[in-house]
Order: sequence, then structure tokens, then C-alpha cells
Amino acid sequence: MCGIVGYTGPREAFPVILKGLKRLEYRGYDSAGVALLNQDHLNVYKKKGKVADLEEAIIGKDLQANIGIGHTRWATHGEPSDRNAHPHTSANGSLAMIHNGIIENYAQIKSELLNKGYSFKSDTDTEVLINFIEYIQSNNDCSLEEALRIALKRVTGAYCILLIEKDNPDTIIAARKGSPLVIGIGKGRDEHFLASDASPIIEYTKEVVYVNDYELAIVKPGELILKNLGNEKVTPYVTKLDMELAAIEKGGYDHFMLKEIFEQPSTIYDCLRGRLDAAAGTITMSGVEQNIEQLKNANRIMIVACGTSWHAGLVAEYIFEELCRIPVEVEYASEFRYRNPIVNKGDVIIAISQSGETADTLVALEKAKENGAFIFGIVNVVGSSISRISHAGAYTHAGPEIGVASTKAFTGQLAVIMMMALKIAIEKGSITPEYYKKLLLELQDVPEKVDAILKNAEELQVIADKYKDASDFLFLGRGYNFPVALEGALKLKEISYIHAEGYPAAEMKHGPIALVTSQLPVVFVATKDSYHEKIVSNMQEIKARRGKIISIITDGDTVSPTLSDDWFSIPMADELIAPILSVIPLQLLSYYTGIAKGIDVDKPRNLAKSVTVE
Ligand code: AGP
Ligand code: GLU
Repeated sequence: MCGIVGYTGPREAFPVILKGLKRLEYRGYDSAGVALLNQDHLNVYKKKGKVADLEEAIIGKDLQANIGIGHTRWATHGEPSDRNAHPHTSANGSLAMIHNGIIENYAQIKSELLNKGYSFKSDTDTEVLINFIEYIQSNNDCSLEEALRIALKRVTGAYCILLIEKDNPDTIIAARKGSPLVIGIGKGRDEHFLASDASPIIEYTKEVVYVNDYELAIVKPGELILKNLGNEKVTPYVTKLDMELAAIEKGGYDHFMLKEIFEQPSTIYDCLRGRLDAAAGTITMSGVEQNIEQLKNANRIMIVACGTSWHAGLVAEYIFEELCRIPVEVEYASEFRYRNPIVNKGDVIIAISQSGETADTLVALEKAKENGAFIFGIVNVVGSSISRISHAGAYTHAGPEIGVASTKAFTGQLAVIMMMALKIAIEKGSITPEYYKKLLLELQDVPEKVDAILKNAEELQVIADKYKDASDFLFLGRGYNFPVALEGALKLKEISYIHAEGYPAAEMKHGPIALVTSQLPVVFVATKDSYHEKIVSNMQEIKARRGKIISIITDGDTVSPTLSDDWFSIPMADELIAPILSVIPLQLLSYYTGIAKGIDVDKPRNLAKSVTVE
């Protein structure tokens, strides 16, 4: 996600802000910018690219100011570009704002402002918000603070915003809902530092105030006022930072991989946000809506991906065929691109990619596009090559995934796939309204169930320590959990360097069961579903040959534990939803195994985060 830095006080603001943005680079971003207020002169410098590129581009510019705001952008609305970078200024040029988050109802507000004669320089939701604030301020002849409060009561979505105005050249107004904001109180209490986390602040002060949701902060060099949206003062609660810088960058977790595993309740929520409305029974996905005829009438869906994204494609195959009754083929992109595949008009290609830059997937798509295929991209990085080559798509909104092992992006992919399949199926009439509604409600409950799973994470650490010295693992699953077994095997391989294979559980008897000994841990992904009785039989086959059984089961399953040496239970869910949940313990198992073996789990040997080579 993006980074935010603000400063007001006696120092030169630009060096503080620039250094702060560099401290936040680990969060991942695509653009950077600063706004500096020198008396009533507002200078805004911003560009696509790295903070260092911005720094170089503004050498020699007027950077003198004692107040300023800076931003590293992770694009959600409007591809990475100079004009979409933050800060954004209001139409009258008197306001500048930076924003972390998503304004869900920006389109409605934008059309109202366009009707009032506003024009926009960018494609972002942020520029809509700042002009909405300006519109309210000028039409109500009220303070900026009051205009912001009125605007935020209308806005839906997530935000952390910093706002400055020419008429108050020492004041930063901030507000947050859903995106973090920390305010550092300078040692002499005559300066304040604002940021997305404490990493830009910690070298100046350890006294901080964490702003809560629905709170506004009015910050001057020697004054910090907190208020709620009802304009009532809130007493700032000052705490002392007890984390070192390195720990802050990982949000207090030991590794990015663990941080990203634990982010999944909120990243899945962010993926569903603004799209899934279970109460209303609606799913809003413009990329699907605008192409619904092509999608629901597809003769065939071909899914092209690599690695973990390919596993998401396998889950998608089961879901699309079950709900939409459309034939699906899942292709390794690296194979698809080199053979002479048959791609017919009327085929739909779905590309799944976290980075949106995987060379094999990108070239496979270029080839398919030449053959006239319609391409739908499910991508995490906004404005990436695969998102740009696609005719339509849906972003997973998982935020930057820093750990090489893909975790939160995978569950984001599954959430998008589920919503997409449900939307197509209800349009096609290939699903009953009752089952549609049931799945909507189940999907809505996923973030909470993931949270419940993560609360028992340490049970996986115990299991990991017990089996960390095994030389091989098998991962077995059936139906919707078969791709999860494959994903669990990949996670263990890439994070702990232990050889692991995933198989359909029933496939064991066709050869691999020869591998089973008392030294072989076999992980069963055995959540309660229509295959459960069969997979219990498979467990018995392994137990009869003294294999060690680790099972991922559903709360309340009393049978599987009698056959398992170790087990981990997760909340009940419909079998189509289960993969989003059953993968979480496997992510944790691989993480704790890698840690137990002293491996750098964020940067495993030989691996790159984005494989942009063939
Ligand atoms: C996943 O844990 C791996 N790091 C890798 O398999 C990855 O999924 C694959 O390279 C595809 O990357 P993409 O999703 O960015 O296209
Ligand atoms: N939604 C805003 C944009 O796309 C802010 C994204 C961010 O958090 O960086 O510009």
C-alpha cells in the first residue's frame, strides 16, 4: 500500500519528507510526490517512478518550506503516471492533498462535480475527493476542517489523507478511516511528524499518537488537536514507540511473509470492498458487467498463469464449471506460449498474475490476443503489463506483496474468481438464487473466518517443528482442495527447500503410494465437503502403511483426528469457499518450517518475486 509523510515545524520540510518517503519504500509503490507550502506559495512536484527519480527531477526547484506533505502511491484508480501521482491540488489551486486508500463512491461524486462544471486532471478517486472538499468549502463558506468533515460523512471507502491550504501555511489537516496514520510529537513540542507508520518518525521522536478511524487531526507546529466527525474534541493518547526501525517496516512481524499472511483478513476485505453486497444480493464488477455477454456465452474459458497463480486457476476451473457450466482449461503459461494452442473466437482467456509482469504469462496472452481471444486479467499490480494488455479485468487489491512466496495475492485471486463466477452464473441462470445468496453471505464471512484461523497460528509452528527434518512431504486433496494441496506443496518447497508433491488424494493408489513410509509426512487437505468420506478412506490407506498424517480439517470433525498424527481445524464453509480458508494453515506451515530451518523466508534462494524472464 502507499506511504504518507507530513511535517510542520521549524525545520526545512523537504529533507524530512524525502527521507520519510525513502523509509516507506519497503511498502511498495509506483509513484512519488511532494507538496511544499512556503507562506502562500504552493509547490507540487510529483512523478511516476521511484523517490530517487523524483529527487533528481526537482533539483534546483524551489523546495524551501517549513510545512509539506509527501506520498508514495500504490495505484488503485488510474494507472501509474505523473498526472495520477499524488499530491493532488483542488481546481482553485488553494488545496493540496495526499491519500492512502480507496474512495468507493468516487464515481458518483465525480459525476456530480462534472455537472457542476468541474474538470479533472487525473483519473484518480483522490482528485475527486479534494475537489469535493473544495466545492463544499466554497459553497458553504466554511473552514477547510468543516468542509472535510462534511465531505467525509458522504464518502465511503478507506482513507488516510493529509490536506494543506494556502490560507493556513502552517497547518496540516489529517483524517483516517481504514488506512493507518501516526503522528509524532517533536521533542520540543514545536513540531509534528505525520506518517503511515512510525518508520519516518522514529529518528526524531518516540512519542506518537495513533489516529483512530473517523478522527480528524488539526496539526500545527506546536499544537495537535484531535476531533471526531461530530466536531467533538478527542484527547490524544500519546504512546512511546518500542519498536526498532527494522521491525516497524514489517509491521512488527519478523518477516514480510508473516505480515502478509496476517494481512489477509483485511486484504480479502479490501478485495470484496465496493464489490460484494451480500445484503443487497449484488456483486459490482465493472470489468465483468461491461463484458457480460461475452463472458456468459463463452464457449470455453482458458486460464493462463504460472506458479501460485496457476493454482488459483485450477480452483477457478472447478468453480466456473460448477457454477457457470462453461468448460474451463487451465494452462501453464510457459507451455501455452510454445505449443500451437487452438484458440477460437468466443473463447475467453483469463490471465491470473500477482505482479502482472510474468514473462511467460504476458507472452502467452499476446499470442492469444493475436488469435482474437477476449482477455480478462486478474492482477494485483495496477497498471502492470498484463493489466494493460487485457481487454478487461479485476484487481485483487491485496496491496504490495513483498515476500517472494505469494500468499495474500492468492486469496485475493480466489475472492475475485468467486465473485466473477457468481456474477456470471446468476446472469446465466445457471445457479439458483438461493445458492447464489448463500455463497454471497459465505464470501462476506471469509475475512472473519481467516482471522479466526490466524488466531491459532502457533499450532502450525508446533507441527512445523515436529516435521521440519523430513526429506519429503506429500500433500493430498480432492475436488476444490486438490489445487490447495498443490499450493501447499509449492509453498513448502519454495520456503523450506523440502521436496514436496501435491496429488489428487485418489491418485495415490496409481503409484505414489509406493513412497509411503513412517518417515513420510502426508498432509491431507480434508475439510468437510462432498468428498470427505472418500478422503478419509485415503487417510486410512496411508495410515495402514505407517505414513505420518497431518490433516487440515473442519471444526467439529471427529473422524479425521482419529486417523491423524497431527491436525489443524478451520471454520466450516461451503466447499467452493473452502480453498480461501484451507490454504491459510498451509501458508503458515511452510513459513514456520522455513523459520525452523533458518531460511530467509522473504527471499528464498534462486527465487525472484516477479519472473520477468523466460
Ligand atoms: C508463488 O509463491 C511463487 N513465488 C511463484 O510461483 C509465482 O506465483 C509465479 O511466479 C507467478 O507470479 P505472478 O502471479 O506474479 O504472475
Ligand atoms: N486510491 C488512490 C489512487 O489510486 C490512492 C492509492 C494509494 O493508497 O496509494 O491514487
